[in-house]
Amino acid sequence: MTTVGLIGSGHIGTTVAQLAVEAGHQVVLSNSRGPETLTDTVAQLGPRAAAATSEQAAAAGDIIVVTVPVKAFPNLPAAALAGKTIIDTCNYGPERDGHIPELDSNALTSSELLLRYLPDAMLVKAFNNIYYQHLLSLARPAGAADRSYLPIAGDSERAKAAVSGFIDSLGYHVVDAGPLADSWRQATGTPVWGIPYGPYSNEKGQPVSEDAIRAALATATR
Ligand SMILES: NC(=O)c1ccc[n+]([C@@H]2O[C@H](COP(=O)([O-])OP(=O)(O)OC[C@H]3O[C@@H](n4cnc5c(N)ncnc54)[C@H](OP(=O)(O)O)[C@@H]3O)[C@@H](O)[C@H]2O)c1
Repeated sequence: MTTVGLIGSGHIGTTVAQLAVEAGHQVVLSNSRGPETLTDTVAQLGPRAAAATSEQAAAAGDIIVVTVPVKAFPNLPAAALAGKTIIDTCNYGPERDGHIPELDSNALTSSELLLRYLPDAMLVKAFNNIYYQHLLSLARPAGAADRSYLPIAGDSERAKAAVSGFIDSLGYHVVDAGPLADSWRQATGTPVWGIPYGPYSNEKGQPVSEDAIRAALATATR
């Protein structure tokens, strides 16, 4: 059993939380407005879920999921996140986040930008390439023939191993897509981003093989 701290409890945060409680993990959710705004969400998730401040969620988690708009990176609880294994689900979108020159110029990936705000954390990029409804509906138990694959990227082999185990418990296999510097291959608009799992109009999505993920990563350009 893992305690998962969620910084951000929107579409992706609550979906990861739901899969995590179903897998027997504890979750501590947080958002920008405070734990009292998460009462209904926690009630729906059941006894393995709690709400807290972002600092408390960061402190409580064995694994932390940072799942916020990129424009919120400067407001994250960096001290409480030092030394933590963090899953970064975040995608950059100038229409939502405003223009960030290092990202517009491709000088940094959004995960490398996050690492600048959380220099003592071990980041793993994951879940950023799948629509939240597909993430929920495509989860499958170990051994299922139609289990899907998700790409992960990170600089710490230890953190990648921990995150791979966590993602496996949620119902997915992973493909190691390399270090954070290569995580642009799974960023917004790349072949592996959304498309393999099917159109958003079909909530069920379609299972995706290891070969399909590897091929999509290999054909990414920027
Ligand atoms: N939606 C998808 O299917 C999807 C798929 C893959 C990746 N992503 C990416 O994952 C990230 C989250 O997406 P989403 O769709 O879940 O967004 P969302 O539904 O808009 O939720 C964003 C969450 O972040 C919280 N937040 C904002 N600033 C915060 C701060 N400073 N501290 C703590 N929490 C903060 C918000 O809290 P308040 O509501 O209290 O402000 C909210 O709970 C984004 O970067 C997105 O691009 C989304």
